[in-house]
Amino acid sequence: MESQGSGRDGWSSRSAFILAAIGSAVGLGNLWRFPAEAGANGGGAFVVFYILCVVLIGLPVLLSETLIGRHGQSSAPESARRLARESGASRHWSILASLGVFSAFMIVSFYCVVGGWVLHYIWVFISDLFQTGLTGGAFQGRDPAEIEAIWPSLAGNGALTVGLDFAFLAITLFFVARGVSSGIEIMAVWLMPAFFILLIAITIYGSFGGAFSETVDYLFTFEPEKLTGPVMLAAVGQAFFSLSLGVSGMITYGGYVGRNVNLAGTSVIIASADTFVALVAGLCIFPIVFAAGLGANAGPALMFQTLPHAFQSMPLGSVIGILFFVMVGVAALTSSVALLEVPTSWLMEKTGLRRVPAACTIAFGAMILGALSALSTNQLADFYPLNFIPLFEGQGVFDVLDGLTSKIFMPVAAILTTIFVGWVADRRLIDSETGLSGGLQVIWRFLVCWLCPLALLAILAVGIFPDSI
Ligand code: PHE
Repeated sequence: MESQGSGRDGWSSRSAFILAAIGSAVGLGNLWRFPAEAGANGGGAFVVFYILCVVLIGLPVLLSETLIGRHGQSSAPESARRLARESGASRHWSILASLGVFSAFMIVSFYCVVGGWVLHYIWVFISDLFQTGLTGGAFQGRDPAEIEAIWPSLAGNGALTVGLDFAFLAITLFFVARGVSSGIEIMAVWLMPAFFILLIAITIYGSFGGAFSETVDYLFTFEPEKLTGPVMLAAVGQAFFSLSLGVSGMITYGGYVGRNVNLAGTSVIIASADTFVALVAGLCIFPIVFAAGLGANAGPALMFQTLPHAFQSMPLGSVIGILFFVMVGVAALTSSVALLEVPTSWLMEKTGLRRVPAACTIAFGAMILGALSALSTNQLADFYPLNFIPLFEGQGVFDVLDGLTSKIFMPVAAILTTIFVGWVADRRLIDSETGLSGGLQVIWRFLVCWLCPLALLAILAVGIFPDSI
């Protein structure tokens, strides 16, 4: 289906766009990164500040990005350039989108590494099901140390992590190469409903035996003294990562949206769905973890080391384990596809390459960078590329790419985006894209012109230089 009769591939309907955008937003960020970050950053303080960030900063940036894309109907940098030109501003404003394209490329490289870990766990639970049968929990007769050892034996095996990374990237490439309406859209329309059914079913199932009230206390008790600069920066970074902002993802997807779609309403639906999934993921994972008497602050290992352990005491544990990791894999795939699409659409437009060679070229680059991330838990474990910068001291390639994008590049791109949309771009063009009027328009303008850029600058400063304040 074509959008706007421009000959450009695009979404076939508004609901297709909504599902694809939710597919992009809902991913490892919600299921793996959100609980891990919340656990590592003190629970309630992080969660409450995170929700504030989504409403006051995430939502306006989301609307800004989709409107730039929809207006431009092109790849992200070209869309930004077009809006700048029509507003009589410098075409160099497209830098906000070019920075995003670069970030998306970096993220997809390490994102597929985690996708690969997920593939491994699907296999671990399937083989467990064959060994121990349906009844009882997972890993019957194995002692806890043995279960916990699954994670280090995966993370420590370079050939395996690299191979799984390539496998996940290949699946991602398959859908991107098929195009927007016949690849990305079809995948989202089938997989997102399946994802939601699995999430709700597993959460209800887990809540029977789990420590539910302990989890609610943990996630929602706000202790102001825990809200430090680094915690705030982590929360903003997480909000951007989770909503797919600051990487031109929503500009790119917005570029395939028809003129008749109400962008403000659609943005609210996307942000609400994404936040809902993050909170449900917390309410799904922590009760299981607490009920098994385990700690919340395991960081990245929370899902891969702590959680499998908890499936042991759960009736039908291996089946739930398979379903859980299939669900995570589905969410990861609809996001990695969005991430790969961003640089692919840019390369197609820049060079005139067709979709398949363009997607393969980007995937090839992501393979190389991704291999470095996949090796950072094993062969390259002692390689700290940015050790001389305090924010990245002692971090391997994977963590550096993650931190660099979510804590610096994404907030910077978002600051530029809000300044561009709030101050630089032609106000009539912006108003006609948002369709907002009256009080809502006043609130939106306040958020995008003032609150977003100033709050982001402040958070960036206290996050990067916590000691200087
Ligand atoms: N939002 C995705 C997640 O939460 C990650 C992502 C970031 C996808 C940026 C696309 C663009 O996992």
